[in-house]
Amino acid sequence: MSTFRVGFIGTGKDPDKPGRTGYAMAYQHAAGYRAAGEKCQMVACADLVRERAEAFAERFGLDRVYTDYHEMLAAEELDIVSVCTWPHLHEQMVVDCAEAGARAIHCEKPMASTWGGAKRMARVCQEKGVRLTFNHMRRFGRPFRLAKELLDAGEIGRLQRIESGFGNLYDYGSHNFDMCGYFNDQVPGEWVIAQIDYTKEALIFGAHNENAALALWKYANGVCGYTATGLGHDVVGAHQRLIGEEGVIEVGPAGERAPMLRIRRTGDAHWEAIDCGGEHCHGPGYHERGVVQIVQCLEDGTTSELCAANALQATEIIFACWESSRRRGIVHLPLDVDDNALAAMVESGELKPAARS
Ligand SMILES: NC(=O)c1ccc[n+]([C@@H]2O[C@H](COP(=O)([O-])OP(=O)(O)OC[C@H]3O[C@@H](n4cnc5c(N)ncnc54)[C@H](O)[C@@H]3O)[C@@H](O)[C@H]2O)c1
Repeated sequence: MSTFRVGFIGTGKDPDKPGRTGYAMAYQHAAGYRAAGEKCQMVACADLVRERAEAFAERFGLDRVYTDYHEMLAAEELDIVSVCTWPHLHEQMVVDCAEAGARAIHCEKPMASTWGGAKRMARVCQEKGVRLTFNHMRRFGRPFRLAKELLDAGEIGRLQRIESGFGNLYDYGSHNFDMCGYFNDQVPGEWVIAQIDYTKEALIFGAHNENAALALWKYANGVCGYTATGLGHDVVGAHQRLIGEEGVIEVGPAGERAPMLRIRRTGDAHWEAIDCGGEHCHGPGYHERGVVQIVQCLEDGTTSELCAANALQATEIIFACWESSRRRGIVHLPLDVDDNALAAMVESGELKPAARS
């Protein structure tokens, strides 16, 4: 059995006080490496703020702390690096880890600030034979797993449409589009049409996120996606709804007493609630399961479900939504612009979100 040397970039401040200015996701990753047992040895971490790195090192018994992650990469011969910083930093940090010789990099979502950046980090890792994964950990959640099992068992017939309603396309949407890809067997997207509203500045982890959006897209196998974010997200009435030829599955339907997962086959008079053992959209235990899988895949040479190829499919749809709004038209995939249309529209003054006090 191999023992992988693990390091962290961006430990965060306080995992017990999570919020929009910091969730300290490195602590979640570390819990995963701990769950992987003797296969992993957590050795070092880097954070710009030394006290944060020291607190993290103390919690998980790490040998060394750094304030410059380049120094850590040069000194520690890490096999696995967790990148847990804000999205605009992911691209370069991942490239630096790959160039420093890491064998696997587990990066937080969303992938990068631009579509070009997301492609670059995936390309560099592929060229260097580095396993790049993203923490789209919902794939390991029971409600989502059971929904997919029901779908694959033919309980609602052939999938036709996936509907979803939630906060935004990028920060939260990264999970949503990833799960759409999961439900639709990672079939690539064909086209996207979307409109957004961005009148009040909404910076999440330093990145612009629209206030509200409507998006429709189609995958190469004919399955459609439909998403509403912000103001109209609750119109959808479920976190995710899988519509098949012979029934409907809802993950996270609206309503205080609604179960986490339910199914209604054609002809059923009522919904059937599916027991998810107390698991919900966010956990518990999903991050850990994801990390355990990436470690196992590194050991046995297989590909994790959290791989960059899957994340790229989700990310392309996100950036295509914003691009569709910029073009005021349909966007055919593959997406042929590399920037971030939302950020570019703010920069050019085409969108003028009012600054939050
Ligand atoms: N998977 C999920 O469900 C989930 C949940 C919350 C956040 N996230 C994502 O996790 C990522 C990190 O968010 P967070 O809330 O954990 O952040 P955080 O602010 O809690 O921690 C980030 C840390 O990075 C450090 N940092 C910044 N620049 C650095 C540098 N150059 N070198 C070393 N350290 C540096 C900061 O000092 C900070 O301590 C974001 O991309 C966010 O979207 C994912």
